[in-house]
Amino acid sequence: MTATTATMRGRAAPGTCFRIAHRGASGRAPENTHAAFAAALELGVDAIELDCQLTADGVPVVIHDETLERTTSGIGPVGAQRWDEIATLDAGGWRSAVFAGEGVPRLADVLRQLAGRVVLNVEIKSARDVGAIERPLVDLVAAHDAGAWVIFSSFHERAVRNVRAASADAAIGVLWDRRPAAGALALAEELGARCIVPSRRLVTPELVAAAHARDLGVWVWTVNDVAEMRRLATIGIDALFSDYPERFAAL
Ligand code: G3P
Ligand code: MG
Repeated sequence: MTATTATMRGRAAPGTCFRIAHRGASGRAPENTHAAFAAALELGVDAIELDCQLTADGVPVVIHDETLERTTSGIGPVGAQRWDEIATLDAGGWRSAVFAGEGVPRLADVLRQLAGRVVLNVEIKSARDVGAIERPLVDLVAAHDAGAWVIFSSFHERAVRNVRAASADAAIGVLWDRRPAAGALALAEELGARCIVPSRRLVTPELVAAAHARDLGVWVWTVNDVAEMRRLATIGIDALFSDYPERFAAL
């Protein structure tokens, strides 16, 4: 089994866990840019997570916030601008002059950049896109022949339901940030998801055991503290998201 195939199953071998670069290696390069994804590839991670939204003209782009101000040179909602406008923005200079000129990537560009070398977790970010983004994403992934290495996730229940409706085969992770965390299990089972994706604050040995009893992985975000990485690894979680994937070496 290749590393990608093993990661896509959701469950890590006992005593191991998958290493996921959160928004790329966002501790060392501007989040959700080609530079952050290249840095993650260099670090040899198992997977990369990114956040995806639609532009006003329906192009899936890679950005976390619903507005452009924090991470780009633009102003206003992501969904209010066309791709040709967003394509002119700088998404690197806010971090450091070294990264000035990094753009907001389209998801299609990232699929080409990664080309199956790692698993890609595409998070459907905005409630505004629910109902509109799922089919285009499934079609884009199919057009790039990337279904074997892309896993979709979202906090929005309707979004993951819509992904499943659009594709019987799509790999899904159920993102979860509220109590009871066990609520994620029923939805994940119903949708045939590969894993639940809880906040680190919600993870207990009982939750891990309940997920594993259903053959679901437990992928935990976002863990930057090495002591906490160790604690979570000890209770048998399957994957960790970190802004600092280089810290996984300490595990
Ligand atoms: O997918 C895990 C994590 O990315 C969820 O939170 O806000 O960083 O997208 P956020
Ligand atoms: Mg995210």
